[in-house]
Amino acid sequence: MFKEDTLSSKTVLVTGGGSGLGLAMSKSFAALGAQVLICGRRMEKLEAAAKEIDEAAASGKATGFYSVDVRDYDAVGAMMDEIAESYGGCDVLVNNAAGNFLSASEDLSPNAFRAVVDIVLNGTFNCTQQFGKRLIDAKKEGSILNIVTTYTETGSAFVLPSACAKAGVYAMTNTLAYEWATYGIRVNSIAPGPFPTEGAWTRLMPDPKMEKAYLKQIPAGRYGKHEELANLACFLISDLAGYITGECVTIDGGERLKSGQFNFITQAAPRDQLKQFFGMMKPSKN
Ligand code: HXC
Repeated sequence: MFKEDTLSSKTVLVTGGGSGLGLAMSKSFAALGAQVLICGRRMEKLEAAAKEIDEAAASGKATGFYSVDVRDYDAVGAMMDEIAESYGGCDVLVNNAAGNFLSASEDLSPNAFRAVVDIVLNGTFNCTQQFGKRLIDAKKEGSILNIVTTYTETGSAFVLPSACAKAGVYAMTNTLAYEWATYGIRVNSIAPGPFPTEGAWTRLMPDPKMEKAYLKQIPAGRYGKHEELANLACFLISDLAGYITGECVTIDGGERLKSGQFNFITQAAPRDQLKQFFGMMKPSKN
């Protein structure tokens, strides 16, 4: 389905593209021919990431990088102006930049709550509006992909700021998918389950025991691979998905289904023993 030129008509801006899943997605976009642009807070990190992306690129297009904090509305606007000048604008925005940490909610300082909400919710608004209004003015079509989480609807203990902010981004996805459809702007999101990255793992999975315990609640029995998420992102931003908007695709090895009433039985004994037990409960025909 994917070819080397699947994304060759796209200029794609990835926020937080200097590391983790942002970098993995950027490499895959480049490998399918996209002109990739990344932004983040630290220039050094961006420069190194851009080199990595260039190595993955199919087309020889050099990756552009911008040191911009998504919390700064005017700085985001200035970056969009620079992109317009250098690349004639961009047609895809991937809102990937995020912040998160584990904390009991009663211990959060107002500034801690604000720090995460500012990056995740306000940062996504800043980039989305600065991007969208330029597309609308230029009468160009485009698409937006937001990286949310699997707890946007349920919330999750110990990550209150992230849960609140990501729920907001989820609402933004649906709101703008409808409102901006008339301009030919698609807006979708991906809800990733656990994908090991340095940023997420050091903050959210600090102990190997925790990591092992977590694995038990994933039916697939493993964590996600970066390229699996990147493949989904490639599809959603490509013209192959031209009729998909307002959709949130979960990619989590089945983790979201963990509340199924009898799911706990899967952990109670090895599968062979379970089958024997079920067999014993089956009524005999005579
Ligand atoms: C409690 C904390 C804290 C912690 C920071 N703060 N870390 N409070 N527990 N672990 C508080 C600080 O004390 C401060 O409040 C306020 O938050 C702001 O902190 P700063 O360090 O000054 O802010 P800043 O440099 O802007 O950093 C923002 C950040 C940081 C969000 C706090 O962690 C960051 O930049 N993260 C980016 C990368 C990241 O988080 N990646 C993971 C995303 S993964 P006071 O009151 O003291 O001033 C993800 C997916 C989840 O979201 C799924 C995984 C399974």
